[in-house]
Amino acid sequence: MTTGIDLILADHRRVDALFEQFAASADPDVIGQIVGALTDHDQAEHATLYPLAHALLGDADLVQRSLVAHEAVKAAIDRLRQLEGSPLVEAVGVLRALVEQHVADEEQHLLPALGERATAAQLDALGTRFEQAKQRVG
Ligand SMILES: [Fe+2]
Ligand SMILES: [Fe+2]
Repeated sequence: MTTGIDLILADHRRVDALFEQFAASADPDVIGQIVGALTDHDQAEHATLYPLAHALLGDADLVQRSLVAHEAVKAAIDRLRQLEGSPLVEAVGVLRALVEQHVADEEQHLLPALGERATAAQLDALGTRFEQAKQRVG
């Protein structure tokens, strides 16, 4: 059974691959794919992951830190929309650094803590709800 954590990790790897693809090609279409993937992931984590983590972990700082990081990513996406040429390429680099920093934090702290605390049934349910949340936005 694919758990919610598996699905979240798969999303993270997909975004890593898209950033790599952009670094190699500078193809502007890839920026649209990155923004779409990040926007869907943001909404699905807000709807499912962070409420569950808040309920089970009792570590408000950990969740709060993630919400702040998501806001920073959204602000970086908003800035991208006004740029073109080399400033756009630089701004994608800034976005990538923000995303990588948050993904590392989520994978090293929040997801392992949730994996220990949640039951198998809760992690399965997270997977189902995460997929549904992504379908609603995508
Ligand atoms: Fe994430
Ligand atoms: Fe996140």
